[in-house]
Amino acid sequence: MRTSLTTLLGVEHPILNAPMTPQAGGALARAVAEAGGFGMLGFDEDETRASLEEQVALAWGHSRLERARFGIGLVRWVLDRRPELIEMAIAAQPALVSISFGDPAPFVARFHDAGILVASQVQSKAWAETALAAGVDLLVAQGTEGGGHTGNVGTLPLLQIVLDLAGSVPVAVAGGVATGRGLAAVLAAGAGAGWIGTPFLLAAEARSNAAAQARLAAVDETQTVLTSAFDRVQHKAWPSEFRGRALRNDFTDAWNEREDGLTTEAEQNFYQAKADRNYDIANLYAGQSVGLVREVRAASNIVRELASGAECRLRAAAELVGA
Ligand SMILES: Cc1cc2nc3c(=O)[nH]c(=O)nc-3n(C[C@H](O)[C@H](O)[C@H](O)COP(=O)(O)O)c2cc1C
Repeated sequence: MRTSLTTLLGVEHPILNAPMTPQAGGALARAVAEAGGFGMLGFDEDETRASLEEQVALAWGHSRLERARFGIGLVRWVLDRRPELIEMAIAAQPALVSISFGDPAPFVARFHDAGILVASQVQSKAWAETALAAGVDLLVAQGTEGGGHTGNVGTLPLLQIVLDLAGSVPVAVAGGVATGRGLAAVLAAGAGAGWIGTPFLLAAEARSNAAAQARLAAVDETQTVLTSAFDRVQHKAWPSEFRGRALRNDFTDAWNEREDGLTTEAEQNFYQAKADRNYDIANLYAGQSVGLVREVRAASNIVRELASGAECRLRAAAELVGA
């Protein structure tokens, strides 16, 4: 398959793994890139410099050539708190960075000067206009179905809005793309790639623990909730318009939309549950496509199945118009 984004990124398949923190580390990015996709790793607010450098080394080591197939995900408001992440990202020399959840404008020129493409995940027409005005090289239409922090508009309406607006700027799609059918649908609509998170939480190479993966494999598509409760209990500075899509559990049942009432006891219980990997209380961010993932698999299998499934569906779709 050849799309605007396979051409821009120089990859075989129109598939990027989403820069999920901390689950998308170096091993996952490398496995996705080796399978012909584009490998992304996320720079987490809470992770040390040494640990991030270790993940970069795991992904692309010291080979300049290989760097062409890797990217780093940054979160806009985190850059105000940890500006050193910008220098670290430039030093790693990825082909692409994403700057999401805010206006990327103050940083775009610095990355461009270093020869690095810039993407931004956008959640509405207004955010798409902001990112385009900032001069990003690709837009990622991020629908509310997606796992982790996101907005309130569904992938399909958002994609149509963003594609109409983007002109010649390529568009990737985040939120709910989990099978060849889903990938084919967004490519047929005019997108250049899928920016895929939740299915890769169950990749063998993800930094997900076994208890988390077992829980993700067991739940269906109805079991997620969009909430600020986990941000509030952890005192994270996420802007309130970006809530996190996570598995519903006892904690979200008790505190979602009642975050102002969070108690010290609830906070202590939360941190204990996190340490114990007790996901009745601790957070597991995941999108609605969690209902489509059932087992832990090698990332290369996930990439190949997405690509071959999409190709098959696109060929079938072409027959609809006699192509
Ligand atoms: C566990 C998890 C952590 C995430 N962390 C980040 C992050 O640090 N930075 C970011 O830009 N996006 C992050 N995301 C959002 C993804 O980039 C992407 O938008 C989303 O996973 C796509 O939807 P899907 O989960 O339905 O595939 C995260 C998603 C998940 C599931």
